[in-house]
Amino acid sequence: MLSLEAEPRAAEALDTTPPVIDISALTVEFPTLSGRSSTAIRELDLSIARGEIFGLVGESGAGKTTLARSLLGLPPAPGRVAAGEIRFEGQDLLRIGERALRRMRGRDLSMIVPNPRSELNPLLPVGEQIMTVARVHLGVPRREARRLALDMLRAVQIPDPERRMAALPHELSGGMAQRIVIAIALVCSPRFIVSDDATSGLDVTVQAQILELLQRLAADRGSAMLFITRDIGITAHLCDRIAVMLNGEIMELAAREDFFFRPRNPYTITLMAAFAHNEGLRRLWTRSAPPLEPAAAGRACPFLARCPLAQPRCAAERPALRELAPGHVSRCHFPVPR
Ligand SMILES: Nc1ncnc2c1ncn2[C@@H]1O[C@H](COP(=O)(O)OP(=O)(O)OP(=O)(O)O)[C@@H](O)[C@H]1O
Ligand code: SF4
Ligand SMILES: [Mg+2]
Repeated sequence: MLSLEAEPRAAEALDTTPPVIDISALTVEFPTLSGRSSTAIRELDLSIARGEIFGLVGESGAGKTTLARSLLGLPPAPGRVAAGEIRFEGQDLLRIGERALRRMRGRDLSMIVPNPRSELNPLLPVGEQIMTVARVHLGVPRREARRLALDMLRAVQIPDPERRMAALPHELSGGMAQRIVIAIALVCSPRFIVSDDATSGLDVTVQAQILELLQRLAADRGSAMLFITRDIGITAHLCDRIAVMLNGEIMELAAREDFFFRPRNPYTITLMAAFAHNEGLRRLWTRSAPPLEPAAAGRACPFLARCPLAQPRCAAERPALRELAPGHVSRCHFPVPR
């Protein structure tokens, strides 16, 4: 069930300096066997401010991981950025070159992924793994790296950090290992963090602790965060603004309160209805759509096949993203009334 219990951070409280990350008209494509390419991200615009936690929600295949990895200059192979710009503090990451980008990854830009076992070296004590990142990226001596690693272990609330420094990954629980992955991602205090589905698979209590931790770390260090999830409910507790993505396109984007109390896009409401206790509401919004055939591939609304409100225009004309209220945009010909 959705709830807005956590204290929202007022939009005005966010920094008004230029965005940390500013994506414009980003298009990412995958080549196909037929020789044509399929578009995983289509002309996407998005910017995230200092200290902001931005939630990106979408079903499987929406393009979330493709976006996350493209932001760090690592689109999943054989994908490639076909167009657009990704600016980090004003620098165009697509044009600075692989060497410069490699130096920035882990230090300025960082990513947390969901499977800690695949991220950690099974043969190396976890403390060494955190220290290595600090030494390579910050150039600090061993003693300073150890101090930073210990500080990080305390920040991610690992009990008895001195002793855990020497633990091998398999000696830790899944939740503990995920905290180590977060410690590695954050030890250099990166100014932009992408969390891609980082808490899925953890039990609810551990998940809640990790979310609280991410929120505190973003607040304390002023980092900007892109928090990616399939679970719209999580964003209600954590995120300042939220966007819903479908087929590589943003369908709706708004500040948290507007997003949850005044959603305008049928797709957002369908995702929310899946959480609703009210059976009628759930059935109304998740029922099959009327059979409308798109006029031509790529010309219809991306939600056409499932939208309970679809009309003939939706099959013939792709809706553009329109601003319906300050900071609240939606891609729909027939926005749901407030
Ligand atoms: N390596 C790849 N080769 C070809 N197509 C890919 C590849 N990776 C992703 N895609 C395509 O790009 C689209 C987006 O996939 P992506 O993994 O980004 O989705 P996602 O939103 O992260 O899904 P999930 O919630 O399951 O993680 C999908 O249509 C997928 O088939
Ligand atoms: S444009 Fe039409 S099909 Fe698309 S979300 Fe709006 S009403 Fe539904
Ligand atoms: Mg993914």
